Amino acid sequence: MPQTRLGHPNLGLGLGLRNCHFRHILEHQPDVDWFEIISENFMDSHGRPRYVLEQISERYPIVMHGVSMSIGSTDPLDRTYLDRLKKLAHDVKPVWVSDHLCWTGVQTRNSHDLLPLPYNEKTLKHVVERIGVVQDILERPLVLENPSTYVTFADSTMSEWEFIIHMANESGCGLLLDVNNVYVSSFNHEFDPFEFVDAVPHDRIVQCHLAGHSNCGTHIIDTHDDHVINPVWQLYKRMHELTAGVSTLLEWDANIPPFEVLHNEVLKARGYMEAEPEVFAEAESDETESGTVAASVGDDTYFHPLHRVEAEVE
Ligand SMILES: [Fe+2]
Repeated sequence: MPQTRLGHPNLGLGLGLRNCHFRHILEHQPDVDWFEIISENFMDSHGRPRYVLEQISERYPIVMHGVSMSIGSTDPLDRTYLDRLKKLAHDVKPVWVSDHLCWTGVQTRNSHDLLPLPYNEKTLKHVVERIGVVQDILERPLVLENPSTYVTFADSTMSEWEFIIHMANESGCGLLLDVNNVYVSSFNHEFDPFEFVDAVPHDRIVQCHLAGHSNCGTHIIDTHDDHVINPVWQLYKRMHELTAGVSTLLEWDANIPPFEVLHNEVLKARGYMEAEPEVFAEAESDETESGTVAASVGDDTYFHPLHRVEAEVE
């Protein structure tokens, strides 16, 4: 059973650290195993967010998760950004540093989105080379997450999971497997999400993400604004069986409920680790409950991935 996780520990069940919960966490010190921060929210801050983070990091393990590395872009890597990321890692001492397998802009223009890549040999070589540069700068393995995607490329020659297998083996990077993203992309592109989860190299999975999404009928948007639906929990169960358990984190970034709601949601993972048959029987009929909020394409209130970058709060 693969358990290497690049030598990283299984931190247990964690939550994304968001401004709106700072006060609750400091006052109540909830029994959460660990927190994940959005790196960009703390890079230039030396005000209240960094002060709060210092307090929280004294009690909880912290992981850094970025949204701006743009590892797949054809623009040169942003050395200023990477230097700031390294400085933050030096200060925060995260257990690991992650970002996304995507590109966020080109010719210095930022799309403010996590954009998909064509999965072919040329892209693979490009991404692997850049991961090597980043790992040399950060002096640690990079952990990359599979994004939710809404388009595919005609010149892709391999599946996303085949690309990830080669990327991980050739670069030495770790993987953050977002099982909600797998489900979203599988719905949008009509592939079997279990084939994805079964295929990726399980000994390189350092972390798992869980989240809710918005099912628009013809497509799903990764909105992070609701409970995790049962089909995603089924993928989580499969991943747990294949990895023997990895650090698991719930993302909830829009319409954020009280802290206890988030905590209770991530604690549901325990039921899927125990593989109780009745849990999975319930899962068969879900997709009409939470996580399937009907929304029109023209609704401009959709959650945007980079909305996780919060305004500075001094
Ligand atoms: Fe994620």
